[in-house]
Amino acid sequence: MIRTRAAVLEESGRARPYAESRPLTVGDLDLRPPGPGEVLVRVAAAGLCHSDLSVVDGSRPRPVPMVLGHEAAGVVTEVGPGVRGLRPDDHVVFAFVPACGGCPPCQSGRPALCEPGAAANTAGTLLSGRRPFARAGRDLHHHLGVSAFSTHTVAAAESVVRVDRSLALDTAALFGCALLTGVGAVVNTAQARPGTAAVVFGLGGVGLAAVMGARAAGCHPIVAVDPVTTKHAVARAAGATHALAGGPDLVAEVGDLTLGGGDVVIEAVGSAAVLATAYAATRRGGTTVTVGLPDPRQTLSIPAVSLTAEERTLRGSYLGGAVPRRDIPRYVALYQAGLLPADLLLGGRLRLDDINAGFDLLATGATTRQVVVF
Ligand SMILES: NC(=O)c1ccc[n+]([C@@H]2O[C@H](COP(=O)([O-])OP(=O)(O)OC[C@H]3O[C@@H](n4cnc5c(N)ncnc54)[C@H](O)[C@@H]3O)[C@@H](O)[C@H]2O)c1
Ligand SMILES: [Zn+2]
Ligand SMILES: [Zn+2]
Repeated sequence: MIRTRAAVLEESGRARPYAESRPLTVGDLDLRPPGPGEVLVRVAAAGLCHSDLSVVDGSRPRPVPMVLGHEAAGVVTEVGPGVRGLRPDDHVVFAFVPACGGCPPCQSGRPALCEPGAAANTAGTLLSGRRPFARAGRDLHHHLGVSAFSTHTVAAAESVVRVDRSLALDTAALFGCALLTGVGAVVNTAQARPGTAAVVFGLGGVGLAAVMGARAAGCHPIVAVDPVTTKHAVARAAGATHALAGGPDLVAEVGDLTLGGGDVVIEAVGSAAVLATAYAATRRGGTTVTVGLPDPRQTLSIPAVSLTAEERTLRGSYLGGAVPRRDIPRYVALYQAGLLPADLLLGGRLRLDDINAGFDLLATGATTRQVVVF
């Protein structure tokens, strides 16, 4: 048993500001050693993603108390029995769906949809069913197989991907969610080709990564949309050719810039209303991809005939449709070649003790990726 310092989400749905209501408690916990097929990782950096905020605000229900955090990088310090291909001192990025390798989606090359992985994530356990964190003798839930807001964590070997040691670990963390999801939505889910017109709604970590993915894929033009106009300069630096704030004329404006609508339109906000707008801003024959995770009570209404008569495609993208062991190293290689300016996502570094205030800032939409550094 080791001691670790971690942020525990006590309860979902507390009122903002979180700096006052303090839904997350930072303190010392017990962490059991890695079991068979598991690794102990010293976490170096962990990003604050909107999907964490959705657990905090209750729009993505998860069991509590839970050690939150799913976008991170760190250093392996111990491997459990039977772990192959990983050893102490390896630098790793976490992927937030552990893929068992044997279920039908895993067997068909879609590990992001792993069924035992999804069941473990919903239950708040590791793939093995274990819950390694405990406080005063009471087990705590694990978050998406990762639980990164902690100086140390235990994960299934299937939840980590080894990365190049020369990569700075705070940058590396972003590859676990923002980049894997945003770039993957463009290149895996939409399969964008050079010269296709891309539109991205929402310029948080995920949407900005989608803009970078669109540029790396050769999309043109690339239209970025976010009401927080202070983010437009970052979007342009990431590859957007145009940035729009939204408003009643948005669909017409996008139509003017793209000669009729985006070939590929990405919703990276987490709102069914924005998804409806994104669908309307998609060209006939185009593809609308939703990456956002709206509250499950939200529903989408579209003219059913448009799918047929306009040959439209509406696709969901979870974990960027990734094969993490293939995609994380290849996106890192694109970054190292100067084709994916991942560091633009880094919006600020914070201490674990300031995590509640970090979620307040994330909720305003004003920041890109904040990273807790340990
Ligand atoms: N599919 C996945 O695997 C996956 C992975 C990570 C995150 N997500 C989800 O993706 C979404 C985005 O995550 P994030 O961490 O980048 O969030 P974020 O909060 O950092 O960014 C969201 C952005 O949307 C903007 N926005 C708000 N209303 C808008 C509107 N009407 N039009 C355009 N932009 C608008 C905000 O200003 C903000 O910049 C969330 O729903 C998150 O849960 C999904
Ligand atoms: Zn995330
Ligand atoms: Zn599986």
